[in-house]
Amino acid sequence: MRIVIAGGSGFIGRRLIAALLDAKHHVILLSRNPEKTLKTFPAVKSEFWDAKSSGLLVDILNEADALINLTGESIAAKRWSSEQKKKILSSRIESTRAIVNAAEKTQHHPSVLLNASAVGYYGNVPEDEAAETYPKGIGFLSDVCDQWEREALKIQKLGVRCVLLRTGIVLDKEGGTLQKLLLPFKAFIGGPLGSGRQWFPWIHIKDEIGIILHAMENEKIEGPVNLSALESLRMSEFCKTLGSVLNRPSWLKVPEFALRLIFGEMSEILLQGQRVVPRKIIDAGYEFRYPDLKSALTDLLH
Ligand SMILES: NC(=O)c1ccc[n+]([C@@H]2O[C@H](COP(=O)([O-])OP(=O)(O)OC[C@H]3O[C@@H](n4cnc5c(N)ncnc54)[C@H](OP(=O)(O)O)[C@@H]3O)[C@@H](O)[C@H]2O)c1
Repeated sequence: MRIVIAGGSGFIGRRLIAALLDAKHHVILLSRNPEKTLKTFPAVKSEFWDAKSSGLLVDILNEADALINLTGESIAAKRWSSEQKKKILSSRIESTRAIVNAAEKTQHHPSVLLNASAVGYYGNVPEDEAAETYPKGIGFLSDVCDQWEREALKIQKLGVRCVLLRTGIVLDKEGGTLQKLLLPFKAFIGGPLGSGRQWFPWIHIKDEIGIILHAMENEKIEGPVNLSALESLRMSEFCKTLGSVLNRPSWLKVPEFALRLIFGEMSEILLQGQRVVPRKIIDAGYEFRYPDLKSALTDLLH
């Protein structure tokens, strides 16, 4: 397949491109900095895209069988000032809108758009199980995901299948949340953030990529898809398992007020969670490579 991937130069995208190339797909990457990306993937055709204009995209999308859009300002890069919140939202809305507008002008529409989203859509869900039918929650991230998903779904009017990748916390050995959590544990001062009772909807990077490929190839999969592991864990259970795999204690709780003081509203990322159930992908027959945290962390850290 000819696959156009926007925002593919990042944490998830780099792994995804490697998997797509392994599977002998033809990949075209859209990036604001194509030269940099070209160095990592010399076999990938890399095109400049400002992440908001649709004009130049039409010719590129004309040749595509599938579109994957992972574009977006990192939610954890900076404290959420009102300017940063605008950037988090607009980078997602403008890029998705441009892709849908360009797809509308193509003679040959792609068959599928896989658009990034996040389990933050559900807001804070302390007790219930959140499968894909669970309603939208409250809060900044939930609002961002909702508006982002609505933009992506507009492509359906062209008869294009649209998959919303509601991703949890992706674990990989290089970068992401796991690398940040490792530091205190390695220094013997690891422990849960906040009360530790909030859910921690994790997923191994190989399952993240495996589910994206499964959803791309399976024409019956449409709409929101939860990308989280089978084993639901609270933050304290996650930290306990991380400590045991590293042979380090998990004891030093970072109090909620301290996190709120340091991170402001952004502490929502750390203090809230959801007991996510990946119902749709289970029903579609996807087999998880790392259903439980112990096997995932053992793979990533040993
Ligand atoms: N990583 C996770 O655990 C996780 C969890 C849930 C949801 N997600 C979502 O999944 C998507 C991919 O995640 P990721 O971790 O791979 O993201 P990432 O590493 O931050 O990469 C996203 C890409 O978006 C582009 N980008 C960054 N800032 C931008 C801005 N201000 N305006 C326009 N484009 C910008 C960049 O591409 P260029 O510089 O090449 O243009 C970047 O490589 C994101 O939308 C994220 O919200 C990720």
